[in-house]
Amino acid sequence: MAKGFYISKNMGLAGLLMGAVAVVIIIALAAVYDKEKTKNQNKPVDGVAMLTTASPTTSSTLSTPKDPWEHYRLPDSLSPVSYNITLWPRLVVNASTGLYIFTGQSAVVFQCKKDTDLIVIHCNKLNLTLLNGHHARLTGLDGATAPTVKTSWLQVKTEYLVIQLNGKLTAGKSYRLSTDFQGELADDLKGFYRSEYTEDGGKKVVATSQMQATFARKAFPCFDEPAMKAVFHITLIHQRGTVALSNGRDVETVNSTIDGTEVTMTRFEPTKRMSTYLLAFIVMGQKFTYTQFVFVDTNCLQVRIWARRKAIAEGHGNYALNVTGPMLNFFERYYNASYPLSKSDQIALPDFNAGAMENWGLITYRETALLYDPAISSVGNKERVLTVVAHELAHMWFGNLVTLRWWNDLWLNEGFASYVEYLGADYAEPTWNIKEQTILNDVHKVFAVDALASSHPLSRKEEEVNQPDEISEMFNTISYSKVLYVLEHLLQQGSLCSRTSPTFAFNNTVYSDLWDHLQKVILTTPGMSLPHTVHDIMNRWILQMGFPVVTIDTATGHITQKHFLLDPDSVVDRPSPYNYTWLVPIKWMKGGVEREQHWLLQETGISNARSEWVLANLNVSGYYRVNYDMDNWERLLNQLTTDHTVIPLINRAQIVDDAFNLARAKVINTTLALRTTRYLSQERDYIPWESALRNLNYYILMFDRGQAYGVLQGYLKMQITPLFEYFRTITVDWTRVPTGHNDQYNQINAISFACRMGVERCRVLTSDWFREWMLNPDHNPIHPNLKTTVYCNAIAAGGVAEWDFAWQMFKNATVATEAAKLRSSLACTKVPWLLNRYLDYSLDPAKIRKQDCTSTINYIAGNVVGMPLAWDFIRARWNYIYTEYGGGSFSFSNLINGVTRRFSTEFELKQLKQFKEDNARVGFGSGTLALEQAIERTTANIKWVAENQEPVMKWLANECT
Ligand SMILES: *[C@@H]1O[C@H](CO)[C@@H](O)[C@H](O)[C@H]1NC(C)=O
Ligand SMILES: *[C@@H]1O[C@H](CO)[C@@H](O)[C@H](O)[C@H]1NC(C)=O
Ligand SMILES: *[C@@H]1O[C@H](CO)[C@@H](O)[C@H](O)[C@H]1NC(C)=O
Ligand SMILES: *[C@@H]1O[C@H](CO)[C@@H](O)[C@H](O)[C@H]1NC(C)=O
Ligand SMILES: [Zn+2]
Repeated sequence: MAKGFYISKNMGLAGLLMGAVAVVIIIALAAVYDKEKTKNQNKPVDGVAMLTTASPTTSSTLSTPKDPWEHYRLPDSLSPVSYNITLWPRLVVNASTGLYIFTGQSAVVFQCKKDTDLIVIHCNKLNLTLLNGHHARLTGLDGATAPTVKTSWLQVKTEYLVIQLNGKLTAGKSYRLSTDFQGELADDLKGFYRSEYTEDGGKKVVATSQMQATFARKAFPCFDEPAMKAVFHITLIHQRGTVALSNGRDVETVNSTIDGTEVTMTRFEPTKRMSTYLLAFIVMGQKFTYTQFVFVDTNCLQVRIWARRKAIAEGHGNYALNVTGPMLNFFERYYNASYPLSKSDQIALPDFNAGAMENWGLITYRETALLYDPAISSVGNKERVLTVVAHELAHMWFGNLVTLRWWNDLWLNEGFASYVEYLGADYAEPTWNIKEQTILNDVHKVFAVDALASSHPLSRKEEEVNQPDEISEMFNTISYSKVLYVLEHLLQQGSLCSRTSPTFAFNNTVYSDLWDHLQKVILTTPGMSLPHTVHDIMNRWILQMGFPVVTIDTATGHITQKHFLLDPDSVVDRPSPYNYTWLVPIKWMKGGVEREQHWLLQETGISNARSEWVLANLNVSGYYRVNYDMDNWERLLNQLTTDHTVIPLINRAQIVDDAFNLARAKVINTTLALRTTRYLSQERDYIPWESALRNLNYYILMFDRGQAYGVLQGYLKMQITPLFEYFRTITVDWTRVPTGHNDQYNQINAISFACRMGVERCRVLTSDWFREWMLNPDHNPIHPNLKTTVYCNAIAAGGVAEWDFAWQMFKNATVATEAAKLRSSLACTKVPWLLNRYLDYSLDPAKIRKQDCTSTINYIAGNVVGMPLAWDFIRARWNYIYTEYGGGSFSFSNLINGVTRRFSTEFELKQLKQFKEDNARVGFGSGTLALEQAIERTTANIKWVAENQEPVMKWLANECT
């Protein structure tokens, strides 16, 4: 799935190198995957050994092993070969049950790997029709005789259909298991589900699917683990006049009549051998349509973009279509493998939980991640389309063709796709400097989470990730971004690309095989060397959580490292095999000149001529923070104020971010961090400003309800005003938009921060713009880039009239990105009753879509007035929210994170703990970890405010005079 990504700047070279690594990884995983099938056969059939390691003390009945169906992992006695699946979704409600349903038949041919009298197959929330008195029918193939069924039942907790046989299945023989079933086509965004939207005043229903991670079992009985690959023969039955899509091209469409109902049956070409989590089934009315073009090169690839008819008619699919072709070509060259399928469909769904899902050949998107309207969408919207499309297309090879063996290795899958996504995006839009623009977003995000004692290593043991909730917790920021740095450590080492010859042996887990191969490449490449083995370097980064702060004493030349923890008092109770030390590559410069790279722990040598500044982690190419002796800090600060352009752009952002975080961790003084913001009155670039704003945001969050806020606002107003005026000038009094991609982002920042800090000209500007629109609703004078901030500030400065107007515009909005902007801006009002009413709306699916509920509450919580209202709201309704929105939903942990962000008092901590206790029985699902993190963060905030409020106020007061 799609999230953010990070990429380094010296990409020209590294990009080339990555090409080689891509091929290596692909080969490595492909080989490992095939190996694993054999390896699995040696495991005990019931997987007991695995589980006892995981929880040796959970029960006193250790001597009586659990039955296979009580384990969350499938036994390894059976292996699927192919499925025949026929599904018939009904897009109208069933009059007698009041439900939307689908019916289906499925037959799976599997091979028996080990004699067994037990069939365990995933099946969740399906009503199976009894066949000869049992839940399924078993047939022997190729002369094998199938034993008769003794008994069968559904094991609800572990989501299995269990069938006990009267005799044994024989190793080496194949069998077919057939089922007939009925399921609910619910609007729960999981498995085969229904998506509803309104168009032309009427309700429209689309049947669609989301299988990752564990929901294919809700569509048909299947061996629902990523390594259980098979070929799928899919037929969809649907109402005449509707269109059906699946992973492959449709090969046959026939009209027929079933039980008196006129239907069309669409049969699809058999899929490639693939994992269940990548399947997709969609049935939609004629209201949906597509734009398409067919590549005329080698394999006549069919490329189509699907969306609501109106969106396509207005050309909103064109941008995605424009970039898909070049990117597919790029990836073919990059992976050195042609696109594996005969078609590529991408569809924008009105109701979708993740940003996008890389179903093989039929990628599903939120509308905002695929559709782009030049007249209405902002530069950020466009970039989102570009990067998400690139990410999903990258998965068509990495992830889909070559697949992780189990979810514990999700980091490899997502991290790699997130890396390659950048390359594809940069190829399609070379002038955007995406690398610069996004580098800090992801680094900083990952740093923030990974600096907590409750973080976790990138790679988890397979047996630590079993249940659906644990699997969905793997989809977090650390999985997605950390690996990029880690890989880059190796890439900087030289020309990996010159050798990719694939003569290597693989064993064990995926990543260690990869290290073996990289090691061989390095050993056999002339001129390449590393001071340590690839295993030594890489395992330290992926098997232990966190990252170091590297301290350079320029007087003595000493370099040291220490595990960086944001809360200095937190206790790490997770042992590390490496004692939390890393092999750190240190790129650095002295007096503006780049010097030779060091490997920390190997040597030290950064001595100083005392007058020149030293800067380490050049362009932030390594995953660590840097601290210096005070003299060097002074020299750096001095350089920033005299001529900041001497220091590379990315490092200006790094200095600010490192300083603020080191201060939070009490490694340096808070005032030193604040001093890195002094030069900002001269800074005109986006990246450093954005870095500063994010860090200052913490100060704003901690202080905006207290007495320090006055001076803080005063200082920041002083710093932002020159930037605001700069953009006023270069846009000729706000009549144009800057040409540079990053300048466009910076203009948005300048306006939104200036307004927030109370720059009067800014308030007038935004309120006037909005009023102009209110007077003439058909003509919106606000540039798409500026809409979010102008709406928000005008609504914040206004009252019920502004709010109701925006709500009306939200309801009328036909473009998803426009609706999203209004939806976030509606949370900006300062009027409590409007905020409370909006909270109520957020749980009413007729007003706010289910997929948008948690983010809407988060927007409200982001507002200083709305925060306590939102907290009361979710506490009062936790049970309901959890039942309706919890479970496997990915945005669930965001809700807890969002609402508790400002928490910084003992009273709030008490409330948080009470909340945890009160709802222990209800549970927190995929938000469990987030809740722990919220408690930890609140504790740290309390301490921070107690220690810093005084000195910060003093420093600020001094600056303001
Ligand atoms: C699927 O259907 C095809 C054609 O009807 C048949 O040849 C094949 O054996 C079936 N496979 C399974 C798994 O039932
Ligand atoms: C499945 O069976 C249960 C129990 O009979 C029933 O309540 C439910 O509505 C059925 N679901 C569907 C989709 O038919
Ligand atoms: C099936 O029926 C639909 C609507 O009645 C018609 O448009 C279509 O051409 C028919 N398709 C075939 C293959 O006969
Ligand atoms: C798509 O490409 C065409 C042809 O190059 C161009 O005219 C059009 O403006 C592009 N559309 C978008 C939205 O970028
Ligand atoms: Zn992904």
